[in-house]
Amino acid sequence: MAAPLYRAPRGTQDILPDEQPWWRFVLSRAEALAARFGYRRIDTPVFEQAGLFVRSVGAGTDIVEKETYTFADRGGEEMTLRPEGTAPVCRAYIEHGMHTWPQPVRLYYICPIFRYERPQAGRYRQHHQFGVEAIGDPSPAVDAEVIEVGWLFLTDPGQGLGLEGLRLYVNSIGCPQDRPAYVARLRAHYEPLLPRLCPDCQGRRFPKAPLRLLDCKEEGCRVLTGDAPRSVDFLCPPCREHWEALLGFLKALGIPFTEDHRLVRGLDYYTRTVFEVQPPEERAQAVLMGGGRYDGLLQELGGRPTPGVGFGAGVERLVLQVKRQAIPVPPDRPPDAVVAYADAASFPQAFLLASRLRRAGLTALLAPQRSLKGQLRWAAAVKARYAVIVGEEEGRRGGVAVKEMETGAQREVALEGVAAALSS
Ligand code: HAM
Repeated sequence: MAAPLYRAPRGTQDILPDEQPWWRFVLSRAEALAARFGYRRIDTPVFEQAGLFVRSVGAGTDIVEKETYTFADRGGEEMTLRPEGTAPVCRAYIEHGMHTWPQPVRLYYICPIFRYERPQAGRYRQHHQFGVEAIGDPSPAVDAEVIEVGWLFLTDPGQGLGLEGLRLYVNSIGCPQDRPAYVARLRAHYEPLLPRLCPDCQGRRFPKAPLRLLDCKEEGCRVLTGDAPRSVDFLCPPCREHWEALLGFLKALGIPFTEDHRLVRGLDYYTRTVFEVQPPEERAQAVLMGGGRYDGLLQELGGRPTPGVGFGAGVERLVLQVKRQAIPVPPDRPPDAVVAYADAASFPQAFLLASRLRRAGLTALLAPQRSLKGQLRWAAAVKARYAVIVGEEEGRRGGVAVKEMETGAQREVALEGVAAALSS
């Protein structure tokens, strides 16, 4: 076979009909659970002005430095395909004056995200995120609520996906006032270790993004994080109080967590709480969900000072995990009927009958034009429950033949009774 002329771009994938039951399962559980906590859906454009992400995600981050799809539109304006969901939602909060709504404003989204990353298992250039954002309330109870939404969504067998063996990691990276003292200590710790760090940590992280030294995935760098200073030891009293209250709420909710002082996340807007959920097999490209608090972001984007907290979860990774853990998902409903015809003269009646059955609320497909045997094979291939055969002989008696595909049992049914017979 000749190679196809075009393929889906590297790092993207088609979600074919046979895949859809897993997607529908994951997304329907996400929407139902978000709704139960009072989160309402928001959809923002696939592209935004490029500056939005530079200001929010941060100019020095991997995402903005290396991964955005940015282009000049035909009017010459710089646009970026959405590389994450939080900044657009905050932009919309400001633009639509949501500070006048009851606070916090609870929003969720399900949308495609674009990052020019090196594709590998579970890492794509276009992926989808289910995310929630609670904007306008500084309380640690809201951090706990957001984590609870995420944890129930991932692990609850009744309301969520029922995934097992997951681990929740939490940390506090404090506020901008805490940061200088902590960064100074971190640099002092790493200075003598510099020759042992990977080139990226030496050349970029150490001078420009020292917190990210802690989450370098290179083994040589990872082993040096063990006795690195911890951000939680540098929290100001209000940040410490927030952190301790959050841990108390999580314990009260019975959500198991691990404090991880290496957790810093790859976006600049976080303050205080950060968290991630890892699947049983821990790898950087396997994180199922990540989030945190971003109390400075709305102001940075030109809004009034407004706190916020949220998470994003990668839908492709969740679908992989649901399959890996063999969690049963509701299958697609097969068609109720394929309407076939025994001879060419019966075709017009079959054509109309298929339409009548659909109007009666059934899923009915008209068989393609071929021999009756061929039509019945087609009915089996599309997994129809019944074949309804319109033919001259039954037609003379005002009926059709209804064949149950699984058993092969066939009976004659009066034309006006077909819909009822198939519904029973
Ligand atoms: P993030 O950690 O960059 O956070 O992404 C959130 C989740 O999206 C990840 O945990 C992962 O499951 C999935 N993900 C990220 N990149 C890829 C990729 N290349 N391929 C497949 N899945 C991927 C954010 O984007 C923040 N906006 C989350 C947030 C919301 N923080 C506060 N509110």
